[in-house]
Amino acid sequence: MSVKVIVGTQWGDEGKGKITDMLAEKVDLVVRYQGGNNAGHTVVVGDKTFKLHLIPSGILYPSVACVIGNGVVIDPEILLKEIETLAKQGVKVTPKRLKISSIAHVILPYHKLLDQAQEAGRSDEKIGTTGRGIGPAYTDKVARFGVRVLDLFNKESFTKKLKKREWHKLIPDLKLTEEEVVETYMAFAKRLEPFVEDTSLFINDAIKAGKRILMEGAQGTLLDVDHGTYPYVTSSNPIAGAACTGAGIGPHKIDQVIGVTKAYATRVGEGPFPTEDHGDQGEYLRTKGCEFGTTTNRPRRCGWLDLVVLRYAVRVNGLTEICLTKLDVLDGLKTIKVCNSYKTPNGIISELPMDPELFSKCEPIYDEVPGWKEEIANMTQWSDLPLNARNYIKYIENLTGINISLVSVGSKRNQTIHLLEAD
Ligand code: GDP
Ligand code: IMO
Ligand code: MG
Repeated sequence: MSVKVIVGTQWGDEGKGKITDMLAEKVDLVVRYQGGNNAGHTVVVGDKTFKLHLIPSGILYPSVACVIGNGVVIDPEILLKEIETLAKQGVKVTPKRLKISSIAHVILPYHKLLDQAQEAGRSDEKIGTTGRGIGPAYTDKVARFGVRVLDLFNKESFTKKLKKREWHKLIPDLKLTEEEVVETYMAFAKRLEPFVEDTSLFINDAIKAGKRILMEGAQGTLLDVDHGTYPYVTSSNPIAGAACTGAGIGPHKIDQVIGVTKAYATRVGEGPFPTEDHGDQGEYLRTKGCEFGTTTNRPRRCGWLDLVVLRYAVRVNGLTEICLTKLDVLDGLKTIKVCNSYKTPNGIISELPMDPELFSKCEPIYDEVPGWKEEIANMTQWSDLPLNARNYIKYIENLTGINISLVSVGSKRNQTIHLLEAD
C-alpha cells in the first residue's frame, strides 16, 4: 500500500501533469482532491498532447482508475467535454475508469457569470482569476448554499435550492431562469450518473486492498487560500493536507508528499512575485519555456527560483521529496539567479513573511550560480548531466534539506532522469 500526494510548490504550472502521468505508470488510482477546471495539466505522450482540467492525469494508462474527489468543484459541461475530447484522442473514459464524488460541489452558470463580473468590477485590485466560476462555487459551498452532484438528480430540491439563492439579486441582468438551469444540468447529470459514487468509500477500500494511490494536487502552495499570497490566491487548499479533506481519507494514510518544482518560477494572474524578471531574461524564460497558460493561454509572468518560497512549501506541505521540472529551459544561460533571502525595510529575512504588505516590499537577494552550455533535453542519466547542472540540483537540495528524486528535462515521458529509484 502507498499513498503519495503530489503538490505544486510555487504558483501552479510546475509540471504536475507530467509528473503525475510519469508516476501513474506504477499505481492503481489517481485522485484529484481540490480545485476545478481552473487547472490545466499537460501530459505529452509521443506526438499527442493531452490538456487535462478535471480528469486526473492518470487517465492515459488503461489500468489506472481515476477519481474526482469531494473537494473538487465540478463544471459538468466541461467534464463531459473533456471526456469527449479524450475519446477523440483515443482514450476511453468509462465509469470503471472514472469515479466522481456524489458530494462534490457543482459550478453553475451563475458562478461563472459572477466570477467574471466580480473580476471586471475590481478596478485596481484584480486577482486575474481564470473566470471559470471557481471562487463563487467555493463561496457557496462554505456559505452552505452549494449544489452538490447528488442534488442534480432531484428536480424538486435542485429547483428549490436555486430559487432560495435568489441569483437575480446578485446578477442584475441575469437572463437565465431556474427552470432552464435545472433542465440543462439534469441532462448533464443523466450522462454523468454512471460515474457517480461515494468516492471516499472507493478510495478507502482501495487503500485497504493494498492499492497504490497518487493524489494529484492542482494549483500550487502559494495559491493556497490559507497559506498562499492572500488575497491573490485560488479559493481552495492545494497543499498536501487538503488531500485528506478533499478525498475523505485519514492523515495517517499518507506515506509521501512529493513537491513539483519548476527550475525557475512563473505566475499567472496578479499578486506578489519577488523574483519576477521584467526584463530580457524573463522574456527569454517565457519564450524558451513556452510559458503561456494551459487553461487561459495568458502569458505567464517569469522569474527565478525562489528558495524562500520553496523552503516554505517544504514546511507547509511536509514534503518528503522534490521533482524538479523544466531544467532544460535553463540551458545556455551563463549564470542562473536563485533567491535565498529577501531584503525588507525591517532587515534581511529568509522565511516568507505572513504580512502581505511586507511580502510585496521584499526584494530578492540573489546568488548567481554557473550555468551550462549543453542541451540536456535528451539526457537520461545523472552522470550525463553537465557538472553545473548537477551542481544546481545539489545546491537546491542543500538549501532546502530535501532530496530531488526526479529531474524533468522535457515534456515527454522519456525526458526524465530518475535520481532516487523509490518503489
Ligand atoms: P501543471 O499545471 O503543473 O500540470 O503544468 P502545465 O501543464 O500547466 O505547464 C507545464 C508545461 O511545461 C506543459 O506545457 C508541459 O508539457 C511542459 N513541461 C513539463 N515538464 C517539462 C520539462 O521538463 N521541460 C520542458 N521544456 N517542458 C516541460
Ligand atoms: P494548475 O493546476 C496557475 C490562478 C489564477 C489566479 C488565481 C485565482 O494548472 O497549476 P481562480 O480562477 O482559481 O479563482 O484564480 O489562481 N490559478 C492558476 N495559476 N495554474 C493553475 O492551475 C491555476 N489555477 C488558478 O491565474 O491568479
Ligand atoms: Mg497548469
